[in-house]
Amino acid sequence: MEDDRILDGQEQSEDRDQALRPSTLKEYIGQKELKHNLNVYIQAARARNEVLDHVLLYGPPGLGKTTLAMIIAREMKGNLVTASGPAIQKSGDLAAVLSTLEAGDVLFIDEIHRIPRQIEEILYPAMEDFFLDIVVGKEGASVHSIRLSLPPFTLVGATTRAGDLSAPLRDRFGIVLPLEYYSQNDLEKIVSRTSSILETSIDRDAVSEVARRSRGTPRIANRMLRRIRDFAQVYNEGLISMDVAKDALERMKVDSLGLDLVDRKYLEGIIFRFAGGPVGLEALASSIGEDATTIEDMYEPYLLQIGLINRTPRGRVVTKKAYEHLQIPYEETADSI
Ligand SMILES: Nc1ncnc2c1ncn2[C@@H]1O[C@H](COP(=O)(O)OP(=O)(O)OP(=O)(O)O)[C@@H](O)[C@H]1O
Ligand SMILES: [Mg+2]
Repeated sequence: MEDDRILDGQEQSEDRDQALRPSTLKEYIGQKELKHNLNVYIQAARARNEVLDHVLLYGPPGLGKTTLAMIIAREMKGNLVTASGPAIQKSGDLAAVLSTLEAGDVLFIDEIHRIPRQIEEILYPAMEDFFLDIVVGKEGASVHSIRLSLPPFTLVGATTRAGDLSAPLRDRFGIVLPLEYYSQNDLEKIVSRTSSILETSIDRDAVSEVARRSRGTPRIANRMLRRIRDFAQVYNEGLISMDVAKDALERMKVDSLGLDLVDRKYLEGIIFRFAGGPVGLEALASSIGEDATTIEDMYEPYLLQIGLINRTPRGRVVTKKAYEHLQIPYEETADSI
């Protein structure tokens, strides 16, 4: 018997996430320039009664790409159809998704860089001229292709690695929008907004503290806030004061810059095992027992952004600022910057 009260962990957390997602461009905090331009493109397309041109969203995880894709569909009054790069590995996978599209639909393909190159080619005519060539028949003379026309739709692609997209695919997106890390001010707005959706009281200085430690990333701000709220519930009758926030963050091993255990293991790995660098990604990843792609996508972008590491042609180098932050004596070497 099915019991819809029982959700698995994944569904439950997606469900919770949903409540925090802004649903209109107006509600979407920060990314001012991106929002302004996107709003112009949406208004113009709507005024002309056309579908929005294809949109590529790129930037580090948790900055709001999926949220934006949902907002685009809503603002364009189209249905959102979602797919993801890792699930599109054969031409049939892509054809199956494309052939379900209706006029005005927004097709969101997350992790679009994971679509294999040969399959990508099917997307080109679909994006450019709204048709799909399907090859039928097994071999020899019976092989031929059938051309299906597609209704006008908007492809929204999201990726943490714009550099991994092939040039022909990238060029077919009329609108390319980079997402940036959020400012302290915008993160404070996000923390306040989330607190009120969660019906939690939080002191002003605690809002700043959570924002400061959230690595410029709304998802991290929201996740930390939820955990701090648990500490507040148990120790402070639900009120998130500065003391509760600081204590909870310390217990979660999140430091003053928002670095967690993996960040510190990464920096200390370069410092102690590779004399501060330069070291190649693979060598470093295996030495600290973490996955190279995870490090490159989730950890390095922020460390680079705040100037704790540099990427040189010969590998990663830890900066003086990182030694200072970790309170490790810094010794000048030729490669340190
Ligand atoms: N501009 C914003 N204003 C308010 N909340 C935001 C904003 N952007 C993102 N969030 C919140 O952060 C969470 C993460 O956003 P989202 O899932 O859209 O990130 P993402 O860029 O798709 O990440 P990934 O690359 O990991 O898929 C969402 O639950 C949403 O509530
Ligand atoms: Mg996403």
